[in-house]
Amino acid sequence: MGFAGESSGKPVLTSSLFVIRSFTSFYFVTAEKSFLKDRTILLGVTGSIAAYKAADIIGRLSEAGASVYPIMSAGAHNFIGALTLQTLSKNPVASDIWEEGAGSQPGHIELADSADLLLVAPATAHCLAQFAHGLAPDLLTSVHLATPAPVMLAPAMNGKMLMHPATQANIRCLRERGYHFIEPDSGMLACGYEGPGKLASVESIVAAVSAFFEMK
Ligand SMILES: Cc1cc2nc3c(=O)[nH]c(=O)nc-3n(C[C@H](O)[C@H](O)[C@H](O)COP(=O)(O)O)c2cc1C
Repeated sequence: MGFAGESSGKPVLTSSLFVIRSFTSFYFVTAEKSFLKDRTILLGVTGSIAAYKAADIIGRLSEAGASVYPIMSAGAHNFIGALTLQTLSKNPVASDIWEEGAGSQPGHIELADSADLLLVAPATAHCLAQFAHGLAPDLLTSVHLATPAPVMLAPAMNGKMLMHPATQANIRCLRERGYHFIEPDSGMLACGYEGPGKLASVESIVAAVSAFFEMK
């Protein structure tokens, strides 16, 4: 009689780790499914090099049962295509405030009203500044002012931009208003510097959103 994994020729330790890892991911995927199911999430995507990760975030949130409506800043279009986000979310991508859908209310008010959460991932320094100061020059920032939904921000930027007193003051201001932050990681940044400012992993962003709905 052998241990699991022996017959397949795989080392037992690898096989056991596989079982533990599979169980853990099964647990988290199941938990995410129950807390994210039927939630309407507006996903703001801004002009960071990490914007491509929004595709993965959309995939994971959608898999877990959430309806994700992407809203891209003009800058985000330089880093990821709207078609990718539209295909993965199965929803239209909103971006241009001057191209409102037909209806009795302006499109951005409808979007704002429908949300259970406004998540911005990645959130640039520019986005944090606009949110902190209540500026609304584009669709994302207008939806931000119009929505009654809670706001969760996953910043991503060069460490010096993150540590700049202006950015720190904006973060403090938003925290005081009750905004939720998903802390950036430290590590090698795309700009070549090592330090804080790396977008949190997709796993931790999805886990933070799931935990947020769990607590509601
Ligand atoms: C290659 C490249 C990468 C950038 N990455 C970031 C970033 O990760 N975080 C950030 O705050 N700004 C970044 N920027 C600067 C923003 O794109 C710029 O501040 C822009 O105005 C952001 O606008 P938005 O927040 O409306 O998308 C980057 C710019 C370039 C050219």
